[in-house]
Amino acid sequence: MRGRFISIEGGDGSGKTTQIQLLIKKLEEEGIDILFTREPGGTVISEKIRSLILDPAHIEMKDMTEALLYASARAQLVGEVIKPAIEEGKTVICDRFVDSSVVYQGHARELGIETIEDINSYAIRGLYPDLTILLDIDPDEGLHRKKSQKELDRMEMQALDFHKKVSEGYRLLAIRHADRIFSVDATQDIETIHRSIMAEMKRRFGYGENENGARHHS
Ligand code: TYD
Repeated sequence: MRGRFISIEGGDGSGKTTQIQLLIKKLEEEGIDILFTREPGGTVISEKIRSLILDPAHIEMKDMTEALLYASARAQLVGEVIKPAIEEGKTVICDRFVDSSVVYQGHARELGIETIEDINSYAIRGLYPDLTILLDIDPDEGLHRKKSQKELDRMEMQALDFHKKVSEGYRLLAIRHADRIFSVDATQDIETIHRSIMAEMKRRFGYGENENGARHHS
């Protein structure tokens, strides 16, 4: 039986990590076999590409180079990790996926949403998530949260304008792929956000329906 594929998206500081941890814990309690991975990264090769992209010293990096590097890291992750796991029947949870590229490189860096979707169609070969959870946050709030946590990497150092375009891009994408993307207001408290994510999981896949929820998804 083919497993589910769920990606989680959101601007920097949207609380993605917290929600992913809560989601995984809940699904594991139900006996669901989870494979967690993240982008950019998740394989040795993809992690190397990740450090190349995020290195603050690489100020001369061209936008298209960046977009193609993200797509390369993704192609490796899909082939080596995601596709085999889904075929084994695992539920794959991915911290960021193709929508991050479409929003950051396509919309915010203005390479074009269609261009980035095209490039990535080669990288993912049709393997779109069954569900994408979008943690929707106002950019000022997101950046403020992130700043208080740690030093900023190259991507996070971009002007606030960039982050505004990221939020805007995600909102555009949520409309463009309304059937796949579930958007949740990330300014709500942690428990409320978690509960609406679980309600969506139940609605889509029957997860969490009862104690035997794991057996109910098809
Ligand atoms: P990371 O430290 O993983 O950020 P976060 O914790 O917010 O996920 O860094 C990933 C950065 O890379 C983040 O700013 C978003 C950006 N990114 C892209 O621009 N394009 C992509 O395709 C992906 C996957 C990430």
